[in-house]
Amino acid sequence: MKQIHTGDSAREVAGMLLKEMLAAISRRSDSSATVNIALSGGSTPAILFDVWVERFREVTPWERLRLYWVDERCVDSADAASNYRLAKERLLDKVPLDAGQVFRICGECEPEEEVARYAALVLGNLPLCGRIPVFDFVLLGIGEDGHTSSVFPGQEKLLYTLSPYAVSTHPVSGQRRIAMTGEVMVHARHTWFYVTGGNKAGIVRMLSCPDVRDRYPAAYIWQSAERVELFTDIRVVEPV
Ligand code: 6PG
Repeated sequence: MKQIHTGDSAREVAGMLLKEMLAAISRRSDSSATVNIALSGGSTPAILFDVWVERFREVTPWERLRLYWVDERCVDSADAASNYRLAKERLLDKVPLDAGQVFRICGECEPEEEVARYAALVLGNLPLCGRIPVFDFVLLGIGEDGHTSSVFPGQEKLLYTLSPYAVSTHPVSGQRRIAMTGEVMVHARHTWFYVTGGNKAGIVRMLSCPDVRDRYPAAYIWQSAERVELFTDIRVVEPV
């Protein structure tokens, strides 16, 4: 299933996503089941976190949530580039989550060792589809170059590897990253893209073009995931 939700602003779209997520959680047959959510990084999620706190804090079943990350930059958690730092400042410090419900990727650790640690953690905490950990929600962004998670064009092997996380390298800055790999993104119960801003319009409108499936990781995930939805303020003219 592929579905597109379009709004007029990043805030409106954030509200649509959060409403959908809470509705999906409430539809779960086991009303006490743990909900495992993987958060993306970059700057886009800031508004999502703000809207979550402002409009949905009181209606979110925080006690059921376990928060993980899609990816992290190999920097200290206090670094301005840290995805965890953004989430901590805009969400974690403002909602009733215990430390035991939040599983950050340690960007300050040796990358290969942290990949092994985090992969083992996720494999141990989550339900599995074969050897693939199944998140309830994987919330993804998209870079203008077509990357998602921290899987960049030219790093397609990270889309097919069986390891749930891998070390990647930003092609321009050379910054090392810890990245969720393709099989995990594809097999989530809900693979959701939250993409805002006119600068992303080009890539968003190409997501379902067959000939970019193997060029842009975001297109590969969009075309491969079983249940994938796009929440965006970009007017998508043709069906994506
Ligand atoms: C990261 C991300 C990455 C991000 C896109 C969009 O750590 O950078 O997880 O995939 O979602 O690059 O980034 P912006 O939200 O900053 O445009």
